[in-house]
Amino acid sequence: MKQKEILLFGATGQIGRNLIRKLSKNNYKIIAVTRNIHRAGYILKTQANPGYLELVELKSFNLNKIEALIKRSSICINLIGILYEKRKDEFKLIHSDLPAMLSKKADEFNLEKFIHLSALGIEEAKDSKYALSKLDGEKRIKKKF
Ligand SMILES: NC(=O)c1ccc[n+]([C@@H]2O[C@H](COP(=O)([O-])OP(=O)(O)OC[C@H]3O[C@@H](n4cnc5c(N)ncnc54)[C@H](OP(=O)(O)O)[C@@H]3O)[C@@H](O)[C@H]2O)c1
Repeated sequence: MKQKEILLFGATGQIGRNLIRKLSKNNYKIIAVTRNIHRAGYILKTQANPGYLELVELKSFNLNKIEALIKRSSICINLIGILYEKRKDEFKLIHSDLPAMLSKKADEFNLEKFIHLSALGIEEAKDSKYALSKLDGEKRIKKKF
C-alpha cells in the first residue's frame, strides 16, 4: 500500500505529538512543521519509527514554503493554537488568518482532507477574543475547503 503523507501543523503540541504515534502506526508518513526544529526534534523524534517522520522548520508562514509542503501531501492537519496573545492581533493571525490560508491552499491542491481543531463552546462566549477568533477561523475554513 502506498504510504500517504500528512502535513501536520502544531505537531509539537499536546495533541500533535500523541497523534504522530497513532498516524505512523497506521502507515502514514508525517511531515511535522515547527518553528524550532531543534526543540521539536528533542520532543518528536521518539514518536515515530525511522522513515515515518520528517521535521520541517518554518519560522514564519511563508506562502511559497507552505505551498510546496501542501503539494506533497494528501491530508493537512492544523493543530496550531494559542491561549493568550503575545502580540497585537495574534488570535486573529493564528486562529483565523492561518487556517483560512491553509484550507484555501489545501483546496487549491486537491487534498483529500483538511482537518482543523477548533474548540468546544465557542459559540456561547461572546466577549472572549480567543473564542471569537476560533469561531471566525471555522467559518472561513468552511468557505475555503
Ligand atoms: N488540548 C486541549 O485540551 C484543547 C482544547 C480546546 C482546543 N484545543 C485546540 O486544539 C489545537 C491543539 O491543541 P494543543 O493542546 O495540542 O496545543 P499546544 O500544546 O498549545 O500546541 C500548540 C502548537 O501550536 C504551535 N504554535 C503556538 N504558537 C504558534 C505561533 N505563534 N506560530 C506558529 N505556531 C505556533 C506550536 O508549535 P511550535 O512551537 O513547535 O512551532 C505547538 O505545536 C489548538 O488549536 C487548540 O486551540 C485544544
